[in-house]
Amino acid sequence: MDNTLSAHIITYGCQMNKRDGEILSDLLAGAGFYLSPTPQGCDVIVVLTCAVREHAVVRALGRIKDLSRHRRDNPNLLIAVGGCVAQTEAERIQEEAPFVGLIFGTSQLHHLPQLIEKALASTQTVLSLDTETSPDYLFAPTIGNRKNTVSAFIAVMRGCNNKCSYCIVPSARGPERYRPAEEIIEEAKILADAGYQQITLIGQNVNAWREDAMDFAELLRRVAQKSGIPHLRFVTSHPKNLSDGVIKAMAEEENICPALHLPLQSGSTRVLSAMGRGYTAEEYLRLVRRLQKALPGIALTTDLLVGFPGETEDDFSRTLRMVEEAPFDSAFTFKYSPRKHTSASELSETLTEEEKVARLQSLITRVQEVGRIQNRKRLGKSFTALIEGPAKRGGSLGRLASGHPIIVPEELAVGSWVEVEVNDISAWTLRGRVPSSAPAKKATSKI
Ligand code: 5AD
Ligand code: SF4
Repeated sequence: MDNTLSAHIITYGCQMNKRDGEILSDLLAGAGFYLSPTPQGCDVIVVLTCAVREHAVVRALGRIKDLSRHRRDNPNLLIAVGGCVAQTEAERIQEEAPFVGLIFGTSQLHHLPQLIEKALASTQTVLSLDTETSPDYLFAPTIGNRKNTVSAFIAVMRGCNNKCSYCIVPSARGPERYRPAEEIIEEAKILADAGYQQITLIGQNVNAWREDAMDFAELLRRVAQKSGIPHLRFVTSHPKNLSDGVIKAMAEEENICPALHLPLQSGSTRVLSAMGRGYTAEEYLRLVRRLQKALPGIALTTDLLVGFPGETEDDFSRTLRMVEEAPFDSAFTFKYSPRKHTSASELSETLTEEEKVARLQSLITRVQEVGRIQNRKRLGKSFTALIEGPAKRGGSLGRLASGHPIIVPEELAVGSWVEVEVNDISAWTLRGRVPSSAPAKKATSKI
């Protein structure tokens, strides 16, 4: 009889969590598990959760409760919960989903095979929530079970040392820990040699990465030069940590994409100060101008958070204005959600849910208007696109160096490069056609 245990991994949340899901599948495969693409009939189901907003927590807990129905077919099924909710709200998981057999924290990934073994043998819920920081926790360079064969994430750091007053990440993911440069470069080379075309260096605050005298700007240059990967990106940049060195590296290294995700959160200096962001609206705008000067045509995206306690109409109008002034090509927009373990959770909310929803709606409208205006400049122009996969409704989905998705009617090979002429736009996604069948050279254009 085959004793192989099967496992299925479900991931919510940010790119860091998605990468953690890939790392977990490597670890489980290495420990002899069969990784199943569905939860049906599995021995273990692992859910990696996100706690950044209450909505995300409710969604994950709902899914976990729904998974319990698989226990009817297999009473020995182990449901394991990891990620940011596990780290910050273990008691809530136990209360709402007492059938969960293992709750493991964000610094416990590398112990998962042993933890599963322990939980399978136990009648009690196993809790493993230490925030220990042993070096093997950062993981060795590998291709592993990455979900995508064209684009890869490389985690360069974990955790966050900032203290943004609304944010649960520092308590969910602990302090900053940096992977050694040598390992990061090695991983980038392995991926480039294996045919990957795009790498995104990820970290909650990537620009804070350092190793002795080496800073993130130098790391970025070395990865760009030594891997030769055609498209190199990085997220997420905190405005206060984005140095001129990084801007210079972006301008000088041809394969670093002229695109930046730079969370602003609010256009009001007063609110930024209450959020503990460490920059004023004016400083943010000056940084944007420096970027635009060094990288004309750079695509800027951001995160915006509305309804922070004390946010007035005037504060909010400053956020709306900033969308145009920057201007942003796109933005993730959020409604403030109080989180336990954050300093802002002690502030009383000053806005009703309806007011927050109304602000969010008008912000989304403004972001879309500005995105569309930005995209109009791209209409009729040609760009080099990397084909990332099939588009949902036929044709192919590509990505420009600017980060814009582009849909073309042709069915093209995943990982190929094509010149595409933009013939239709929306607020973010573009549509285009491939004028000739000649494949483009690897992207080098900085537009
Ligand atoms: N409520 C709403 N949005 C939040 N974010 C972080 N914390 C909260 C919160 N408590 C948003 C920020 C951040 C993005 C990842 O999520 O905009 O940049
Ligand atoms: Fe969610 Fe933040 Fe955790 Fe990522 S780090 S999973 S965004 S709470």
